[in-house]
Amino acid sequence: MRKKIVAGNWKMNTMLPEGFNLAKEVISKSAGVPTDVELIVIPPFTHLSEAVKITKGSRIKVGAQNCAMWDKGAYTGEVSAPMLGSVSVNYVILGHSERREYFGEDNQMLFKKINLVLENSLTPIFCCGEKLDERESSNHFKVVEQQVSESLFGLTAEQMLKVVIAYEPVWAIGTGKTATAEQAQEMHAFIRQLLTKKFGVNISNEISILYGGSCKPSNAAEIFAKADVDGGLIGGASLVAEDFIGIAKAF
Ligand code: 13P
Repeated sequence: MRKKIVAGNWKMNTMLPEGFNLAKEVISKSAGVPTDVELIVIPPFTHLSEAVKITKGSRIKVGAQNCAMWDKGAYTGEVSAPMLGSVSVNYVILGHSERREYFGEDNQMLFKKINLVLENSLTPIFCCGEKLDERESSNHFKVVEQQVSESLFGLTAEQMLKVVIAYEPVWAIGTGKTATAEQAQEMHAFIRQLLTKKFGVNISNEISILYGGSCKPSNAAEIFAKADVDGGLIGGASLVAEDFIGIAKAF
């Protein structure tokens, strides 16, 4: 059965001491969250080593927000998948819409990154999702299909089983405008159908698909109740431990 996951993408927020306190608070509040829900904190790179130390012995896993397209070398400013592995990170977000928008990441680049992350025994959280004008022009399924097929369909079935997908409609990120539970379910079911066609139903049924975009304690239960929604990738609300844990308790 596929995993339920609630992951907090802190983005470029928190100084180290704040991040330290936030991680501590998440640990201390996590007791009330059903044990079958995987909880992940995803702080900035500078905090990763500390976050791994703080969360050791707790149920909280740690993720990174990105990694390089190469495994080492003269790429000033980049952080590689092997480096993330060396500090014992568990997950890596890839293809977040902010990376696509501000750093020109495309589906082909992401395919390379996913391979590197998997080669280093880390779990990619692959993000996809349409922009507002793409939804308004009814191109949302086409856009997501292209993202999923170009970045994931080159993987083997064995590799695919290790990938987590996050559907994050760009118009819902940081806007306070959440997709309705029906809109989320419709797209999640569509993504699962794509995976079924390519990899078969046994594999597609094992892949966790998270929803992201203005997820809050007040709307999480309705979204998580949908059949193809396996959890959430949380931005703003993950910076407040109580809200993050409140969302995870919505399962
Ligand atoms: P918000 O929850 O702030 O809308 O952000 C979602 C997101 O981008 C998570 O990766």
